[in-house]
Amino acid sequence: MAEQIAVEIRPLAAADVEQAWEMSHTSLQTAGLEYGWHMPDADALLRSRGHQRIRHLMTQDPEGTWVAELDGEIVGVAAATRRGPLWFLSLLTVATSVQSRGVGRQLLEASMRTLGPAGAICASDDPKALRRYRVAGFELQPRYEAKGPVERAAIPAVDGVRPGSYDNDRDFVDDIATGLRNAPHGVDLDFFAATDRPLYVMDTSAGRGYVACTEKGVAVLGATTTAAARSLLWTALAECTDDDVSILWLRHDQSWAIDVALEARLSLRPTGSFCTRGAVGPMSPYIPNGAFG
Ligand SMILES: CC(C)(COP(=O)(O)OP(=O)(O)OC[C@H]1O[C@@H](n2cnc3c(N)ncnc32)[C@H](O)[C@@H]1OP(=O)(O)O)[C@@H](O)C(=O)NCCC(=O)NCCS
Repeated sequence: MAEQIAVEIRPLAAADVEQAWEMSHTSLQTAGLEYGWHMPDADALLRSRGHQRIRHLMTQDPEGTWVAELDGEIVGVAAATRRGPLWFLSLLTVATSVQSRGVGRQLLEASMRTLGPAGAICASDDPKALRRYRVAGFELQPRYEAKGPVERAAIPAVDGVRPGSYDNDRDFVDDIATGLRNAPHGVDLDFFAATDRPLYVMDTSAGRGYVACTEKGVAVLGATTTAAARSLLWTALAECTDDDVSILWLRHDQSWAIDVALEARLSLRPTGSFCTRGAVGPMSPYIPNGAFG
């Protein structure tokens, strides 16, 4: 075991946002080279969305959002949300130069002060993260990423899906989300709205559901039936503006989504783990968001 390092663990402040994001991005990019994921270089859009995300976490979940400081530098960040009973670890990164010296453990412990009856984490492939989460009592479940260009000719006509509104459809979305994960998305819907994630909803006899889209796929998707979930996932694939689609967080038990990905001729790759502790709800049919659960 490497020697532990003494750092100050303190709440993240507004003045820390930019440095915290740069450190996190570099840490994730460096770890990705070692453990096999791709983190794009920082550009203006990535920076601006990253800063927005950290500000959102700091504002909405101040008791779950911490930094580790060493000699005046931020060397670690942890941020956890709490929506109703559901705690979710949004971010945990430590500067590469001080990893494996106990900083991640201290930050995770700080962010877990807001843990209630249930918790979840979309974990990276870093074995240090997996060790920390399992030791903290989380169960690890495999997940897949579906990636590649969508075969446009395979996209079926979909009935009953319409563009949604984060204002007008908020209660509808949160009602379905609560059935799936015992917790609404709540203020995280404001983040999706502020970061221009198009929303689609479906409310028919075949089922009810919602999907927030990204350029490359899905920000979050939830439904009451797999039929509705399939229609919403096809809608998101049809709406992708990036040729290189990436649907993250396909859990091993979400065969309805894995089937759509295969029908769209995307490639499946096992990567990362979905970690849960306590009763997180059925979360099915569901594709979680990596930052907000
Ligand atoms: C994951 C991360 C936050 C953990 O922080 P950290 O400060 O390195 O973690 P800690 O030192 O507290 O704990 C790491 C544990 O893994 C162990 N470890 C180190 N290398 C390991 C390896 N290759 N395989 C398995 N375990 C390993 C350490 O010994 C330690 O366990 P111990 O405390 O029981 O001895 C940090 O490594 C990191 O930023 N990684 C890159 C970004 C990332 O993937 N973040 C997770 C997002 S979900």
